[in-house]
Amino acid sequence: MIAEWLTSVLTPASFEARRLGVVAEVVAVRARARRQAKAWAPHLAACHQTILTACQTVANPGSVAVLGAGWLLDVPFDALTRRFDQVLLIDAVVPRAVRARAGHAGALWQAHDLGGVLATLAAQKGGARGQAPDVPRPAPFPEAVLAADLVISANLLSQLAMAPRLWLDRHGADLDTQDRLSRALIEAHLEALGRCRGRVCLISDFEREERGAPGGPQRFDLLFGARPRIDGQRWLWDLAPRGEAENGLSVRHKVMGGLLASPTP
Ligand SMILES: C[S@@+](CC[C@H](N)C(=O)[O-])C[C@H]1O[C@@H](n2cnc3c(N)ncnc32)[C@H](O)[C@@H]1O
Repeated sequence: MIAEWLTSVLTPASFEARRLGVVAEVVAVRARARRQAKAWAPHLAACHQTILTACQTVANPGSVAVLGAGWLLDVPFDALTRRFDQVLLIDAVVPRAVRARAGHAGALWQAHDLGGVLATLAAQKGGARGQAPDVPRPAPFPEAVLAADLVISANLLSQLAMAPRLWLDRHGADLDTQDRLSRALIEAHLEALGRCRGRVCLISDFEREERGAPGGPQRFDLLFGARPRIDGQRWLWDLAPRGEAENGLSVRHKVMGGLLASPTP
């Protein structure tokens, strides 16, 4: 816990990413990935394979943009740097280690809010706290992303709403408001992916299954009804085997990964 806290403090980030808890989330992802290395291995291997397969479909590998690059756990970074002339890593929080790794490999990184609501939420004051902000549509992608030969959305889609809805929840917004914001962020991301000029590889979890509660297994739609169409595969991700989650549940996600055929079903 102390190591996680220290990493959070030392991770460079915007005011809004820190205030809304995105930094804490990023740090927690790596800590869990380390604890659950064995359980996560098939998921990470499937992500790498999906991305490598997508790379093969790009005839002129000039530039690739990775959205939600995080710690590059699910991204075959070295293979991308070998294949593409330019690699651009984008995330609301770019950890020091990733900045250094990018620097050594001649890759670029950019700290950028790909949903476009973090600053608005973090600036809310008084009675405005807990009000859902307008979601920019399509989502605000940098021009270098729209122009890239390959865009990889790497386990980001379901995460875009995490910090904003926790913030709204903490400030009294009802579940309906939280769900509407979540869906809007997801749709805006898909719409922006649909406007990218190159190929798009989308990897996202879309269903959460919790086991171990007295009432039997519970399922949650992580994309709030959005179902992009992809040419690819689906797999299971043992996100939190029994003992990892605090409440004694085991958590498994369903994941889709492949080339985006259409942002809508
Ligand atoms: C589950 S992690 C993805 C895993 C990552 N690809 C890796 O290999 O470490 C989700 C990522 O989405 C990023 N993220 C969440 N909200 C974001 C936003 N609004 N804009 C950009 N990145 C965001 C987080 O910072 C985090 O790195």
